[in-house]
Amino acid sequence: MLVKIPTAAVQGLQAIPVTAEVNASRGFQFCLVGLPDNAVKESHQRIVAAIQNSGYRFPMQSITVNLTPADLKKEGSAYDLPIAIGIMATAGEIKINRLPRFMMVGELSLDGSLLPVRGALPIAIMARAQEYEGLIVPAQNVREAAVVNNLKVYGAHHIQEVVDLLDDSPSAIQSTEINTREEFYQRQNEYEFDFADVKGQESVKRAMEVAAAGGHNLIMIGPPGSGKSMMAKRLPTILPPLSLSESLETTQIHSVAGKLARDASLVATRPFRSPHHTISQVALVGGGVNPQPGEISLAHNGVLFLDELPEFSRAALEVLRQPLEDRVINVSRAKYAVTYPASFMFVASMNPCPCGYYGDPTHHCTCTPGRIQQYMSKISGPLLDRIDIQCEISPLPFKDISKAAPGEPSVAIRERVIAARKIQEERFSSLSSGEGGGRGRVHCNAQMTEKMIHQFAEPDSASLDMLRMAMERLSLSARAYNRILKVARTIADLEGSKKVQSQHIAEAIGYRNLDRSDWAERGI
Ligand SMILES: Nc1ncnc2c1ncn2[C@@H]1O[C@H](COP(=O)(O)OP(=O)(O)OP(=O)(O)O)[C@@H](O)[C@H]1O
Ligand SMILES: [Mg+2]
Repeated sequence: MLVKIPTAAVQGLQAIPVTAEVNASRGFQFCLVGLPDNAVKESHQRIVAAIQNSGYRFPMQSITVNLTPADLKKEGSAYDLPIAIGIMATAGEIKINRLPRFMMVGELSLDGSLLPVRGALPIAIMARAQEYEGLIVPAQNVREAAVVNNLKVYGAHHIQEVVDLLDDSPSAIQSTEINTREEFYQRQNEYEFDFADVKGQESVKRAMEVAAAGGHNLIMIGPPGSGKSMMAKRLPTILPPLSLSESLETTQIHSVAGKLARDASLVATRPFRSPHHTISQVALVGGGVNPQPGEISLAHNGVLFLDELPEFSRAALEVLRQPLEDRVINVSRAKYAVTYPASFMFVASMNPCPCGYYGDPTHHCTCTPGRIQQYMSKISGPLLDRIDIQCEISPLPFKDISKAAPGEPSVAIRERVIAARKIQEERFSSLSSGEGGGRGRVHCNAQMTEKMIHQFAEPDSASLDMLRMAMERLSLSARAYNRILKVARTIADLEGSKKVQSQHIAEAIGYRNLDRSDWAERGI
């Protein structure tokens, strides 16, 4: 007897239909074919135990399982459930008439309970496109999959519940309905932190507001305890709220990586990812034997924060360059090639020198200029080139921390950021996507090409003279020039000014301290 159970594989962020074909014939052996990896091959042991421990009979027959299409690599344990159901159907334990209407995935525990799988959301999207009536997933994945409309999603705790559902028994589980939109909009502003907690530090907060408004990457340089990590964590709270379509992209990535919290549905707030500096290149950008999205993709539509930037390996930092430019990452190995989205705001922090206290008014720095320069040179020029705003932080003296009033709340700052972003959307909406230099449509000032900078951020002749003088006096490198104009454009947008004026340029020049050739010799 042959039965076919619809199930799915996930490749990149896409789910692909797979059929688990189970055939029972005379004899006594178990054979699994169709390019399974080790986890799939091991499913035999789990399935036998799960079926028997759930009180069903494992057929005394020769069982052949074929996962089609055969040329697609099958990995992970999500095929346990469809294979087990197929075997039970061949043994006559389940009615087979409703089987073709359901797609199913799930890992089995030895007692027959279902364990969560990766990629339930993309699988649900594909199941709907394939017009299945229902999708059966482990209960822990049900809210993630139920985000998809016009598809009945059933969350089962145990294989017994799946059998009851397929048998259409009166006590069978019901599909889960959630009002995704309502829930999403309710949770959209649920951030753990707020800028109101940060006292003083007005100039750093201003730099972060400018960065958020124009989508500019940012690096903070300051001694230990000056609040770099504290402020970076609060950056997502002043970015415009995540849109539903952005959320769907981000949620799919987290779904595929198995990083969604238990019972989570759509990701409603902008992600903030802060990997440790010992992170491997693969964990940072994605890939691996069975490809998985890396931290840069988990940060998609949010913030990637690299704390203590010079501590990261040179190799890890170098691979960031391409995704920072293209906003996607292509990972290819001998056996696969996948593309993951990776559009994030890049925020980094570092100490100004190895001992950490260069420029600190309250501590003595013990580093020689040579050591400071060596420390700074750990970050390559090309990476620094992709960071528009460099801002220095001095620690707030204790008396100010204890006295200062709470800062401005994030919502107030965000209002201004949203207004500036709206101006940018209008500015770039008339441009065709081809003008983004092959990188899709431009949304914010940070993404402007050189041509756009000339078109939209050209200063008047007086401001240009000032810029030239400042560049000479501060010995700013040529690469600083375009960065200054981009940031000045954002500052002008925050002010609602059509033209880039000299005060905007002056503020933007202040965000290029690391470019100064005299960094290690001057007193801050
Ligand atoms: N401006 C501030 N307002 C309120 N609290 C502050 C401020 N600056 C620092 N703090 C306090 O000091 C703590 C240390 O700050 P944080 O960890 O962000 O510093 P850091 O610059 O990241 O230091 P390190 O280089 O050691 O990582 C914060 O958790 C916070 O409690
Ligand atoms: Mg820190």
